[in-house]
Amino acid sequence: MAKVKRIDHVAILVDDLEKHLSFWRDALGLEMTQIVDVPAEKSAVAFLPVGGSEIELVKPTTDDSGLARQLEKRGPGMHHICLEVDDIDGMFARLKEKGIQLLSDAPKMGVGGRKYAFIHPKSANGVLVELYELPQ
Ligand code: CO
Repeated sequence: MAKVKRIDHVAILVDDLEKHLSFWRDALGLEMTQIVDVPAEKSAVAFLPVGGSEIELVKPTTDDSGLARQLEKRGPGMHHICLEVDDIDGMFARLKEKGIQLLSDAPKMGVGGRKYAFIHPKSANGVLVELYELPQ
């Protein structure tokens, strides 16, 4: 049976990376390893590892994406948590069978061969949940 292994990352939506790094990096003392531009998601992401997980600060780079609209509407804040699973196809099928709302018809292929899918907040107590299966 498909299993959740760990929290891979927690994503926080921000309007300005430097401004918000002043808390996560400068005040809290986390190391910021890299900032990656992700044109496919119209965003830039700053990565701050914490133990075996990461905090990701996500900043929209255009004003026409879903992320940008959410930022406009609600301001910076928690965006989603991502759980690593060992078998995303199996997990996806099980969630579907249990009537959990998913944001796509099947898991998608992302950067670096990782497969991912999102669970609708309506099915997860108001929290957007991402699932990852990392390449072996
Ligand atoms: Co994510």
